[in-house]
Amino acid sequence: MAAEIREVENISGDINQFLLQICNYSIVYFYGGMIMNKKILVAYFSASGVTAKVAKKLAEAVGADLFEIEPESPYTSGDLNWTDKKSRSSVEMNNPEFRPAIAGKVDAMEQYEVVFVGFPIWWYVAPNIINTFLESYDFSGKTIIPFATSGGSGMGKTNEKLALSCPGASLLKGKILNGSLSQTEMKEWVDSL
Ligand SMILES: Cc1cc2nc3c(=O)[nH]c(=O)nc-3n(C[C@H](O)[C@H](O)[C@H](O)COP(=O)(O)O)c2cc1C
Repeated sequence: MAAEIREVENISGDINQFLLQICNYSIVYFYGGMIMNKKILVAYFSASGVTAKVAKKLAEAVGADLFEIEPESPYTSGDLNWTDKKSRSSVEMNNPEFRPAIAGKVDAMEQYEVVFVGFPIWWYVAPNIINTFLESYDFSGKTIIPFATSGGSGMGKTNEKLALSCPGASLLKGKILNGSLSQTEMKEWVDSL
């Protein structure tokens, strides 16, 4: 009799586990699907190639189109010298109003509902060229998801800096994608949004 009760308990434990799993999959399906089922663009700026690699992997993982935010005047290694207060990046980042010009435009931005925006962290925030990018289009009604690579810093006050440049958009909490995340890990992140 005791053995039978134990067996019934085991079966009901299994069923509970099974139902819980279905529940989890449903949550992932409904919420994850909210991003994955939409037309997605991954736009990125990368001064030395690190963010570019991550952006390409992310675009493949979520089936998105890819757009590189290229500065009209590319950054040289001297421009990127953060130890030099007079380098181009230091001067630009010291002036939050400065908007470096971008070469090229996204074709038919209106087709995208979700736009991932990738960049390296500069001085604890997004580089000013990301503000240039956001101010070049009407993002109202769209979802913007920032991601970044860094030497170790987090996103800092990036969203505070970006929010004013994309009025009417839903700007989600971004994520640092350092290290070599697999496409599966990237998908899991997107599903969790
Ligand atoms: C001007 C400048 C400022 C930077 N500031 C930071 C910082 O505040 N925190 C940090 O962790 N890394 C900082 N970094 C490092 C970059 O975020 C990191 O190397 C990034 O992965 C480079 O990406 P990219 O190759 O796509 O340009 C800075 C790099 C530069 C050039």
